[in-house]
Amino acid sequence: MTDEIPKSPFAVTRRAIVEGCAAAGALGALGFRPTPATAAPGDPAPQTMPVRLTINGQPHDLVLDTRTTLLDALREHLALTGTKKGCDHGQCGACTVLVDGRRINSCLTLAAMHEGDQVTTIEGLAQGDTLHPMQAAFLEHDGFQCGYCTPGQICSSVGMLSEAKAGWPSHVTEDVASTPALSDAEIRERMSGNICRCSAYPNIVAAIRDTAASNL
Ligand code: FES
Ligand code: FES
Repeated sequence: MTDEIPKSPFAVTRRAIVEGCAAAGALGALGFRPTPATAAPGDPAPQTMPVRLTINGQPHDLVLDTRTTLLDALREHLALTGTKKGCDHGQCGACTVLVDGRRINSCLTLAAMHEGDQVTTIEGLAQGDTLHPMQAAFLEHDGFQCGYCTPGQICSSVGMLSEAKAGWPSHVTEDVASTPALSDAEIRERMSGNICRCSAYPNIVAAIRDTAASNL
């Protein structure tokens, strides 16, 4: 019988501690200094900040909670309620807007990140009383039922046509080196981030197909 305690494979010896302290001291002597932290633990985070957003060509000066999403800035601070909140998680596409011509989910981005960007919402697509061709096509093809997903569908399809025009392939493009023709399969794939709970998909595809035919 013995009282000996088995040694842990991770046991730290007195010698290792002394050697470690000596090494740290040597680094200090060589001029090494750890980068000072800019905020100490427990420091309060900035609560609000001024943000200038350009929406549909109009500048807006806002003071926003730093955590405000672009979607909430549009809806709650600027009363631009055409952009819809569906899931608030990047899953439905109802909140799609165009930023510098590219489509994004506005629920997944902070408003403060978009100073200097040109943001276009569904309210900014028409030219006065003249609807954007995509809006007119959705009307003509009855591309909606309840309409909740429609602003996102339209903004997304406008951005999608620009992508196709620029030759961006999709997951179903067979020859990625060619400028893809917008078949129904291409349209469905490229619009797969926009969910329609009313299942107006056949009419949505028809509206986009028609608009693409006259714009590509
Ligand atoms: Fe943004 Fe659903 S609300 S993706
Ligand atoms: Fe109702 Fe698309 S028209 S969700």
